[in-house]
Amino acid sequence: MMKCPVHKYCGGCQYQGIPYAEQLKIKQESEEKLLSSFHNVKPIIGMEDPLYYRNKVQISFAYDEHHNIISGFYVPSTHTIVPVDECMITDESINKIIGSIKKIVKKYHISIFDERASKGCLRHILIRSANTKEYMVVLVTGSVTIPKIDLLIKDILKYNPEVKTIIQNINNWRTSAVLGSKNTTLYGKGYITDELCGLKFRISPSSFYQVNKRQTEVLYNEAIKAAKLNKNEVLIDAYCGTGTIGLCAAAHVKKVYGVESNRSAVKDANINMKINDITNAEFICEDAGKYMEYLAKNKTHIDAVIMDPPRGGSDIRFMSSMVKMKPDKIVYVSCNPATLKRDLNYLNKFYTVKSIQPVDMFPFTSHVETVCLLLIK
Ligand SMILES: C[S@@+](CC[C@H](N)C(=O)[O-])C[C@H]1O[C@@H](n2cnc3c(N)ncnc32)[C@H](O)[C@@H]1O
Repeated sequence: MMKCPVHKYCGGCQYQGIPYAEQLKIKQESEEKLLSSFHNVKPIIGMEDPLYYRNKVQISFAYDEHHNIISGFYVPSTHTIVPVDECMITDESINKIIGSIKKIVKKYHISIFDERASKGCLRHILIRSANTKEYMVVLVTGSVTIPKIDLLIKDILKYNPEVKTIIQNINNWRTSAVLGSKNTTLYGKGYITDELCGLKFRISPSSFYQVNKRQTEVLYNEAIKAAKLNKNEVLIDAYCGTGTIGLCAAAHVKKVYGVESNRSAVKDANINMKINDITNAEFICEDAGKYMEYLAKNKTHIDAVIMDPPRGGSDIRFMSSMVKMKPDKIVYVSCNPATLKRDLNYLNKFYTVKSIQPVDMFPFTSHVETVCLLLIK
């Protein structure tokens, strides 16, 4: 099993050097340890080819002690950069584009942003890819203007014709967050389009989008299959991002309501609905807990919920309102088995856990995704 030369410092891949079959075993055991008191855990679904799967990467820039430009990933919980030339879990074309942009940045002497002095230009580069072979480059800058911007864009496109859009994101805050709030399109449409489960999805720079396309289809199919949806049912897609799960499920139900707090993701979800000619979905920009509370107060009838919260899990406001409406089934898609366990401890009073299916979305890391079906007691 080949080893990434910087894995000890980068911190991105906790399981480098461990054979893939062994990684899956470790994940299976950790899921069983946390979750088997609710139900037996099905064997984890791994990847056939677990390398170069990420469709998104963020590279940070800094000067070394000799004022040379360095770029790579932050050592976890620090502001120290580990220089990385090729990331073994990132799309190979993204690796190539990063290498090319690094050369261009050096060629035009683009200054690097110094957070403490609040001076300089380039801070990070974010690259996303779609399986349609469209690539997005986001130049995250501390300054409003980018010197030699026309030359920079011309060179990026010349050496990387697969780049279909270039965006500037301004982030001059003292923060570990990569993106600031303002995006300006410098070239192309400002988004790329991916294809997933036979549908098209628009991806904007700031919207959440699953990073492993091959396993996302597996995950969504598992979630939709577990829900055993039918044409008379009303489904809530909670924490819906760009509407991907709800839109993939729309053909199976009467109506889908998606709720998501990120404005740009909701905008994408509404566009995704239109470009796929789906007419039985609606997306709401709101805190998911607040929305469920509103639905519960109005005694809204819902049949099924697919919930896919962030790593911190859901909250009592969401879950207590959900159980008041008594949907027959809940499919909890979780990216953190520890918070899944916490939330199941609550939901378990009203619902019975009927299946637990781990899916390996993040080979070489310790992360694992779980699809859990709950039926009303
Ligand atoms: C793990 S992602 C899942 C997105 C989507 N289901 C998918 O598969 O692409 C979690 C989503 O929850 C959203 N989110 C986080 N906290 C939220 C809240 N309190 N209310 C609504 N949405 C929230 C995030 O913006 C993110 O899009």
